[in-house]
Amino acid sequence: MMNVDELYTELVLELYRNPVNKKILNNVDTSFRDNNPFCGDVVEIQVKFNNNSIKEIGFQGEGCAISQAAASVVTEIVKGKNTEDVLKLQIGDVLKELHLESLKNNPVRIKCAALSLKVLKLAVLKYFGKKEAS
Ligand code: FES
Repeated sequence: MMNVDELYTELVLELYRNPVNKKILNNVDTSFRDNNPFCGDVVEIQVKFNNNSIKEIGFQGEGCAISQAAASVVTEIVKGKNTEDVLKLQIGDVLKELHLESLKNNPVRIKCAALSLKVLKLAVLKYFGKKEAS
């Protein structure tokens, strides 16, 4: 098991202090908000699409350094990607970007890193649902 110092890498702390894509968007195509039920930490992601590709993305959130750093990473790596590719993303892709691959062996803290990816995928699925309904 990693100790706390190893969990909070330079990159995690940097993104926690200076998040990327932490902004509120107007007139979005979809958004979703969810929390980690174990701690209550929350992430909301808003997305604008252009022909099924992510044109603009922003997040809001509160929580631990890992969950908030992961929100920056997730929103950054999906820019320009189409919805199909977004739904294929795995937690391993996020951990790699965070330089936290060993978190795979930490069943509690991996949920911190996974929250944003889950929220983003649910936002995309919500978008599909809206399109089908219209
Ligand atoms: Fe709550 Fe990390 S401790 S998401």
